[in-house]
Amino acid sequence: MFRLVLISSLLAISLAATVNLRLPNLVPAVTNDLPDFSDITDNITDIVKARFDDLVSKGLGRHVQELIGIQKKLKIINKIAAEQVKKANANSGRFGAIAHEIFHAFGVFHHHSRSDRDTYLTLSAANQDDNQFTKLTTSDSYNYGTMYDYGSVMHYGLDGMTAVETLYQSTMGAGLGPQFGDIVLINTQYQCMCKSATVTCANGGYPNPNGCSTCLCRGGFGGSDCSVRDPGTENPDVGVTLQAIASDSCQTLVTSLGNDDGVINLYYQKSWFWIQAPAGKQVQLIFQKAGTSPGVSYSQGYGCTDQGVEIKLKNGEFNRTGTLFCGDDPALVSTPSNIIPFTSDSELAILQVYSQTNKFNLQVKYRYVDSTTLSTIPGSCQPCLDQYSNCNTFTSDVCANNQNIASGCPVTCGTCPK
Ligand SMILES: *[C@@H]1O[C@H](CO)[C@@H](O)[C@H](O)[C@H]1NC(C)=O
Ligand SMILES: *[C@@H]1O[C@H](CO)[C@@H](O)[C@H](O)[C@H]1NC(C)=O
Repeated sequence: MFRLVLISSLLAISLAATVNLRLPNLVPAVTNDLPDFSDITDNITDIVKARFDDLVSKGLGRHVQELIGIQKKLKIINKIAAEQVKKANANSGRFGAIAHEIFHAFGVFHHHSRSDRDTYLTLSAANQDDNQFTKLTTSDSYNYGTMYDYGSVMHYGLDGMTAVETLYQSTMGAGLGPQFGDIVLINTQYQCMCKSATVTCANGGYPNPNGCSTCLCRGGFGGSDCSVRDPGTENPDVGVTLQAIASDSCQTLVTSLGNDDGVINLYYQKSWFWIQAPAGKQVQLIFQKAGTSPGVSYSQGYGCTDQGVEIKLKNGEFNRTGTLFCGDDPALVSTPSNIIPFTSDSELAILQVYSQTNKFNLQVKYRYVDSTTLSTIPGSCQPCLDQYSNCNTFTSDVCANNQNIASGCPVTCGTCPK
C-alpha cells in the first residue's frame, strides 16, 4: 500500500497500475502553471473538495490544506482523485470507499500490498496473478513504522485472502474509514507533524497537526488529550464506561445502535464502550449476541461493513483496529455448549458498536479476572437461552410448577443466573 512519492511521474505510473487509468493521461511533466485547485469547478471536483473537508474534520491535519496546495501544482493527482471519487460514489456512496480512493490519490497503496504483508496474510493463487495484490518492496514504499492494520481503509476484504491472525478475517475490507495508522502515515509522509505542541497526549495519541493544541487519538480514545473514552457519534451518548466489579459473577451489557430501515448511510453511527477492571486485573468478555435484528440481513464475508462490533483487548496493539464481528459470528458468540471467553491483557477492554445500515444488537457478559480465576467460568457468565421453540407460550404459573420448563426456558421463566 504505502507508496507515497510526492512530485514524480513514478507516482503517476504506480497509481496508474493500481487504478487502471491510461498512462498517457498521467505522464506529462508536472509544472507550476497548472490551474489552481479552486479553479476547477466541475461537479466531480466539488465532490473531491467536499470529501477533503470530511477528511479534515475526521482527523487529517490542517496541512491537508497544504496538500491541496500541493495539488494546485499537481493537477494530475487531483484528476486521479476525481476519477477515483467518481468511481467510489458510483459504486457505493460510503465514506470508507470514498476515503480509500482519496488515499490512493495521496499516493497510498493497498494495505494488503505492504512489503510485510506475508506475515499477516495468505493469498490465493488468483491473488498472486492480480496486480491489485502486487507486493511492494521496502525500497519502493514506506510504512513509517505503522503497525500492520487489517482494518486499514486501504485493506481489501475477502477476495481470496486469509488473515493469519484468524480473528481478523472480517476486519479486512470492512472499510470503516481512515484508521489511526492511516492518518499517522499521511501526516508523517507529508511532514505535517507538529514541530512544537502545547499539549501532552495520553494513551498513545499525538498532537493534532490541525492546531497542535489538541491530540489525535487511537481508536476508542478521545477528549482533547486522548485521556478519556471516545464519545462516538451519538448524542446523548450510547457508549459508556463500565466498571467490572466482580470476578465470581458477571454483569451484562445490552446495547444496540442503528435503525432497521435498510438505508445505507454515508457515515457510520459509532458508540465506544470501555470496560475497566480493578488495578492489576483483566477484563473477561463472553458474548451472547452480536448481530442484526431477527430477519434483517448483514454483510459478512467481504468484511463487517454494514454494522458490527470492534473488540480491542491488547494494550500493545491499541494503535490498530481491533477484531470486527457481525452477524452473530459463531467465532464470537457463546452457546451453552461452547463458551468462548475473550480476555484483555490489561485493565481495559474497548468495544465499538457501529452501524452504517440497519440495527446492530449486542449482549455481552463481563467480569474481571486474574490468572487464578481466568478459566473457571461462573454460572452467571454462561449463556442463558431458552432451549425450546415454544418457550414463549408458557406462563409464569407453568414455569413455577414445572421444573423442566423452568430450566429449559430460563429467559421466559426469569430463571437465568443473576
Ligand atoms: C452538476 O451540478 C449542477 C449544480 O449542482 C447540477 O445541476 C448538474 O446536474 C450536475 N451535473 C452532473 C453531471 O452531475
Ligand atoms: C503507535 O503510534 C504512535 C504514533 O504514531 C507511535 O509513536 C507508537 O510507536 C506506536 N506504537 C506501536 C506499538 O506501534
